[in-house]
Amino acid sequence: MQDEGPWDKYLDRTEDDHRKIYGVDMVELAVQYGTPLYVLFENIIAENHAKYRDALEKEYSNYLICYAVKANTNFDVLRLLAESGCGADVASEYELRIALDAGIRPEKIRANGNCKSEFYLEECIKREIVINVDPEEELEVINEISQKLGISAKINLRLSGFPLEYITSSAITTSSEWSKFGISVGRADRVFRKVRDMEWLVPNGLMVHLGSQITDITAYYTVLDIMIDLAKKGQNTGFEIHEIDLGGGLGIQYFDQEEWASIKTKIKNTAKQNYTWADEPTGYKYSPESGDLEWTGEELYCPHTQDGFIKRLFNERYSGGRTFREKFEDIGSPRFVIEPGRSMVGNAGVTIARICHVSNTPLGHNIVHLDAGVNINTFGTAVPEQLHRIEIANNIEIGEPFETFVAGNLCFTGDLFGKIKNRLNRRPKRGDYILFYDTGAYSDFFASNANSFPRPGKVMVAKDGTHRLLEKREELSDVFAREQNWSKKSAPIGI
Ligand SMILES: Cc1ncc(COP(=O)(O)O)c(C=O)c1O
Repeated sequence: MQDEGPWDKYLDRTEDDHRKIYGVDMVELAVQYGTPLYVLFENIIAENHAKYRDALEKEYSNYLICYAVKANTNFDVLRLLAESGCGADVASEYELRIALDAGIRPEKIRANGNCKSEFYLEECIKREIVINVDPEEELEVINEISQKLGISAKINLRLSGFPLEYITSSAITTSSEWSKFGISVGRADRVFRKVRDMEWLVPNGLMVHLGSQITDITAYYTVLDIMIDLAKKGQNTGFEIHEIDLGGGLGIQYFDQEEWASIKTKIKNTAKQNYTWADEPTGYKYSPESGDLEWTGEELYCPHTQDGFIKRLFNERYSGGRTFREKFEDIGSPRFVIEPGRSMVGNAGVTIARICHVSNTPLGHNIVHLDAGVNINTFGTAVPEQLHRIEIANNIEIGEPFETFVAGNLCFTGDLFGKIKNRLNRRPKRGDYILFYDTGAYSDFFASNANSFPRPGKVMVAKDGTHRLLEKREELSDVFAREQNWSKKSAPIGI
C-alpha cells in the first residue's frame, strides 16, 4: 500500500488557474522573487521530522535523529529542526558552524567526511562531538590531535564493503564493495584492536551510510546483521558499542508506483518509444545472465514513509525469524542514530523556472528551454535517471499532456533535466512557469555560477501561510565576488 504523497492535501488553484500550494500562488512567488526560485514548505519539513520522531518514541526511545545538513543547508531549516529537538549530521567545519549557530547542541551532532581537516577535527574534539572515523587512517590523525589538545575523542567507526549491489544508483551507493568511504568490514576486527591501543580514542559505536534514495528495506537488514555481528566482536575486544548509527538514505516518492513502472517500461523500450536522450537505456544495464536489460538505477517510487519505515525496521522478522529490535537487545540496546536528509526535506520543496522556448531537437523531439540549468537542479548531474514530476504553474488545466525533454540554459548538451522525457499538463509556451516537485533535497548541492548565471533565491512558506526570503538571488557583485581586479563588478548589470 502506498501512502498519500505530502502534496495532495496542500494543492489548490487560484481563480485564474495558477497552482497554489499551502495557500500560496506559485506564479506570484515567481514574479515577486524572480526565477529560477527554490521554495520550501516549513510545515512539511516539520511533519517529516515529527513522523520519524513519533515513530521512534513509540518503537525505541533510545534514539537520535541527526538531520543531514548537506541535503538543504539553510539556517532557518536548521533552526526549525533544532527547536523541535533534532540533531545534525555535518560533513565539514562549515556545516558544523551553521548547525551550532542554529542551536543544535554538540552532543546531537555527528561529524562525517572522508577528508576532514585538522581544524574540523579539533573543533569536534573540543566540543566532544562524536566523529565518524573515515577512512581507517584517520584514527592516527584523531589520536594525535586529541593528544595535542589533551582531550579524548569519541569515535564511531564508519563501515563499508557490505555485499550490496544496485540498491540505488552507483553514484550514490556509499557502503558497498566499491566505495570511497569508511573502513572495510573485513578489517573491523583488526581495527577494534588498533583502537584499543590508542590512548586518546574513546570507542562509541559503529556507523554506516548505505547510500541515498534507498527504497528496499532488505538492504538495511543485510547491513544490520553484519553490524550487529561486528558489534558483538567489538564488545569482546573492549570496543564499547554505545550506539549504532545507520546513516541516512531512506527514499522519497517522486512518482507513484504505477507511473514509475510505466516510465521504466518506456525507458527500456526507448528505441521504439523515442523516450530517452540518444535512445540510451538510462538507468538500465545489460545483464549477461538474463540476456536482458536490468534496472540498476535509482528507484523513484518509494513505498515507505518515515514512520512506516521505522515501524517495519524494528518489527519485521527477517533473518533467523527475528526482529531488529530483538537483535539490538542482544548487543545491549545501544542508542539508535539515523541521519536522514532527503526524507526530511526532499518532498518539502519545489523549484520554479520560466520557459524561454518550446522547440524541437534535430530529430524532431519536443524540447523546452528553461531559464535555469542543471547547476540549480544539481542531482541529475550525478544521477541521470533522476526525474521530477513537473507541471505548468499558470493555466494548469488547459490542453493535452505534452511529452518533452527539458533543457537548461547552459552551454553543453548534458544540461538536461533528466535524460528521460517528462510530461507536462499541456503544450507550454514562452513565458509559462514550470514547477518541479520534490526538489527540497540536494537541488543546490553542486550549485555553481556556470556561464556566470546567478544562483537562485530560496523562499520559505511558513506554517501560517506567509512567505519570506531565506537566501537572496545573487547579483552581479555576488557572481564575481572573488574577482580581485575588476572595479566595476559592483555596478548594476547594465552594460
Ligand atoms: C554520512 C551521511 N549521512 C546521511 C546522509 C543523508 O542521506 P539521505 O539524504 O539519502 O538521507 C548522507 C548523504 O550523502 C551522508 O553522506
